[in-house]
Amino acid sequence: TLVPVIISGGAGSRLWPLSREMHPKPFIELPDGGTLIGRTYRRAAAIDGVGEIVTVTNREFLFLTADAYDEAPVAGTRNTYLLEPVGRDTAAAVALASVHAAEAWGDDAILLVLPADHLVADEGAFRSAVSRAAELARSGKIVTFGIVPERAETGFGYIEVDGETVLRFVEKPDFATAEEYLASGRHFWNSGMFCFRAGTMLQAMATYCPEILEHVKPAVAEARNGRHGDHATREVVREHFAATPAISLDYAVMEKAEDIACVPVSCGWSDIGSWAAMAELVAADADGNRATGDVVLEEATDCFVHSEDRLVGLVGVSDLLVIDTPDALLVSRKDKAQHVKSVFARLKAQG
Ligand code: GDD
Ligand code: MG
Repeated sequence: TLVPVIISGGAGSRLWPLSREMHPKPFIELPDGGTLIGRTYRRAAAIDGVGEIVTVTNREFLFLTADAYDEAPVAGTRNTYLLEPVGRDTAAAVALASVHAAEAWGDDAILLVLPADHLVADEGAFRSAVSRAAELARSGKIVTFGIVPERAETGFGYIEVDGETVLRFVEKPDFATAEEYLASGRHFWNSGMFCFRAGTMLQAMATYCPEILEHVKPAVAEARNGRHGDHATREVVREHFAATPAISLDYAVMEKAEDIACVPVSCGWSDIGSWAAMAELVAADADGNRATGDVVLEEATDCFVHSEDRLVGLVGVSDLLVIDTPDALLVSRKDKAQHVKSVFARLKAQG
């Protein structure tokens, strides 16, 4: 069995003001329709032989998630929502899925972890990579998917490879190190998707982060089972789960584990990490402007404008991001798109 596991949590602070604490990145309406999480669900269901999907998310997002899935119902696909009472980052989310899967399908179940907020343009290439990854996973590897790096991005993990073998995994290096990796020709970006046997991940966690399993196991064992529409829900126990250390899988397992493999994939992957990436989804006019909504441009070049309710006019400006929503307006230089997260952080600090 190959079971896709969609992990969804975290606000996506670089896409403020569309991404909010209670309306995070996976649920943003894409310029060309649908949501990132809805597309992830369909992409997962389209993998050969997949009948079951697992979604790990906060209980607060059950309804939003179910709505996104219902927009794109996939006949014959069963889904189980593993509901977290609080976010404890990705190691805990993956532990949850692994414990659940081992119980439901046994240690040999192959899990494919998919972040809910990524875009894949070429699904055929994605599926070929998944099928190779599943093979390697069956032989006991924890498999990563490598993306050819385009810049010295410090927000990603880097995978140093020798063929399909991973020599080293480094999560979010500093800029100088990222530059070195970019130049080396031996490093891939970590896409954030992973493939492994449930038993392999449980074994790795028992070795490298036993305190996570220690809390997650009873949280799952005592979970409250229910249904939501056609799908099953398992809400894990707050007391146990809240005590789980909050750390990402990348730091907790991937930087330490030994039997890691990497399948390179060029499938038009993007983590839509900023407004600059979101803008790319909209076709540009002759002056390089991209706009959604009611927008009038006069002598403007290379701008991205997103307007939801109001008419927006731009005159004589270039390289700007203008994001207008009913209760917040963002104006930013395009090359500062990454810094939008500071606005989000300041608002959060102010409560
Ligand atoms: N269920 C659940 N619970 N999901 C979570 C939680 C949580 O507490 N925290 C994060 N997630 C989900 C996010 O919604 C996202 O889909 C995925 O897990 C990865 O989390 P991010 O917070 O977006 O991680 P990142 O982008 O900083 O880094 C990861 O992805 C990069 C590629 O985009 C790492 O794997 C990097 O190595 C990788 O390069
Ligand atoms: Mg991310």
